[in-house]
Amino acid sequence: MPTVLAIETSCDETAIAIVRDRQVLGSVVASQIELHRKYGGVVPELASRQHLETVNFCLDEVFTQASTPWTDIDAIAATIAPGLVGALLVGTMTAKTLAVLHNKHFIGVHHLEGHIAAAYLSEPSLQPPFLCLLVSGGHTSLIHVHDVGRYECIGRTRDDAAGEAFDKVARLLKLGYPGGPVIDRLAQQGNPETFSLPEGRVSLPKGGFHRYDTSFSGLKTAVLRLVQKLEFEADELPINDIAASFQAAVAQALTKRVINAACDHNLSTIVVGGGVAANSGLRRALTTAAAARSWTVHFPPLKYCTDNAAMIGCAATERLRRGWVSRLELGVSSRLGIEKTNDLYNLEKS
Ligand code: KG4
Ligand code: ZN
Repeated sequence: MPTVLAIETSCDETAIAIVRDRQVLGSVVASQIELHRKYGGVVPELASRQHLETVNFCLDEVFTQASTPWTDIDAIAATIAPGLVGALLVGTMTAKTLAVLHNKHFIGVHHLEGHIAAAYLSEPSLQPPFLCLLVSGGHTSLIHVHDVGRYECIGRTRDDAAGEAFDKVARLLKLGYPGGPVIDRLAQQGNPETFSLPEGRVSLPKGGFHRYDTSFSGLKTAVLRLVQKLEFEADELPINDIAASFQAAVAQALTKRVINAACDHNLSTIVVGGGVAANSGLRRALTTAAAARSWTVHFPPLKYCTDNAAMIGCAATERLRRGWVSRLELGVSSRLGIEKTNDLYNLEKS
């Protein structure tokens, strides 16, 4: 049973975990949300500096939590792409240094492969093939997961990612950053049917609409117009109803596309990953749609939806099992398509 120490620093969370065979022995997430809140979003330079300051504390803490000696660790993994370059460098260089020092394998992990693998933490027997809806602050994709390392992106957003839409709508409602959790909370006290908002369909050149792609910029503009109109008409904004109507529009848009893709590709197992997988409206809509068709839908445990290192350890475990490890010369990359994850490994047996 391989044991992996994993580090995630691709954006604004310094996270370290120790994972043994899809089981989390220890997991530490040091969030930088407070640091970035006053800027309304992540400031890359500040993020890298904060990772540097925090990473050693997280390392000590995870070993204390897991009570695992260094001799039990088989490999050291780090998110190597995609993400903020300076931030990725901190985690990757830490992992490589530890790998050399302790004579362990180094495994560079694609951040999105980590989000896909997060579902293994709630469902340890899960195996591909399945359909993955990946919805985070930077990504919205529908991925046909044929096997480990065989990812086919069949749907994507044409503009904003789902999490980005939550963050932008929260900003225009003056709810602060990040927007997803607060909109989710307010939506639970609102009526989703109060306002009718567009679900963001993508037109095709020959007529009709794309079955898998989404567009959230029109939805965001519709909320902006609605807010302007309501501010003009009334003293107080019905924030809870706006939040509920917006959340329902996003959940409906994503659920429809999941159904289309799963039907077209004959997949009855659905996995959801990324920060927006924590959303209660999306969870309800997808669970209901899946139950009506006798499909199975898996969400990661709530704390492993947003960025964490346990999911990176899970993804690395699958690579290590196959003997696929990375070279120490492998560099970080701010952009790397999910189809290219195998480029990160020496696919010869280690
Ligand atoms: O996966 P993640 O931690 O970071 C990226 O890789 O992007 O996702 C962060 C995103 C943010 O946009 C945040 O607003 C959103 O996930 N998010 C949510 C919820 N919790 C976090 N969106 C909707 N509902 C939530 N409960
Ligand atoms: Zn993420």
